Amino acid sequence: MDLSPDLATACLVPRRVSGPEEARDVVATEGAAIITGITDEEAAIAFGTAMLGEDLVRVGRQIEATAKRALEDGAKVDEQPADARGRKRRLSRDVSLPMPPHNDGFAFGDFAPDRLFLFSARPAAVGGESFLIDGLKVLDILAQDPANAEMVQFCRTVDIDHSEPNFPQEGYSPIVRTTPSGPPQVRHHPYLAPIMGPDEAAQWPFVEHWKAAVTAARDTGPRFRLEAGDMACVDNYRIFHGRHGYTDPARVLYSIWGWSTSAVAVPAGELDIVNPQGSAQLAG
Ligand SMILES: [Fe+2]
Repeated sequence: MDLSPDLATACLVPRRVSGPEEARDVVATEGAAIITGITDEEAAIAFGTAMLGEDLVRVGRQIEATAKRALEDGAKVDEQPADARGRKRRLSRDVSLPMPPHNDGFAFGDFAPDRLFLFSARPAAVGGESFLIDGLKVLDILAQDPANAEMVQFCRTVDIDHSEPNFPQEGYSPIVRTTPSGPPQVRHHPYLAPIMGPDEAAQWPFVEHWKAAVTAARDTGPRFRLEAGDMACVDNYRIFHGRHGYTDPARVLYSIWGWSTSAVAVPAGELDIVNPQGSAQLAG
């Protein structure tokens, strides 16, 4: 497949904002914004709370991302069995590699947060730059080439399986969908797959094309550093995020998840990425 050089333009370098109201507007229109001067995780959560304002349903710490934590959680996930397709879950335990672009909480289906806050408490001395990819823009760029018409139609209309290996979600949906409250939701992570069955073989090329396009955007587009005290505020329904490789063991980034009244579903408590639970349990 030929991938357009324009895919690099789907990468977003967010602009800096001065407060929660501006952050809220810029995230809603542009997909992401950066606030600086955040002193600690408590202040990060307080900013997220203020940004969500009267639309807030739930906000809280999800992950303290460090090289040590990546190894510990990665080892637990490595012990989980392969699924019916022979696929195994892998966390990004080797932090020297770039992360696959993803929406946070992808293992939880409808319960994924619609807002995400990435608070850089301590950046890597070298490397570990962030990237953000506008998923809707990736699809628009693909749609500009008539040769991609069938693939783009697939992304917009055909249900696929968004589950991680061994943690099946209830129900299926297309790569991009319109959520009940109106905003679009577009998704990318390493385990996207066609629904198992007679159409699977014919559909894999479309799913692989989508993954290749998003990965090409990561590898060709601009990246940026989150310095200490910077926090990226992200529309997690529209934007895929991740970081490039690093080795510095002192890097610390907090991932804070927020659910607004526009979220498709809101979990009752903190979510466990090592053992993603079924929807019934999440609803509490
Ligand atoms: Fe993430």
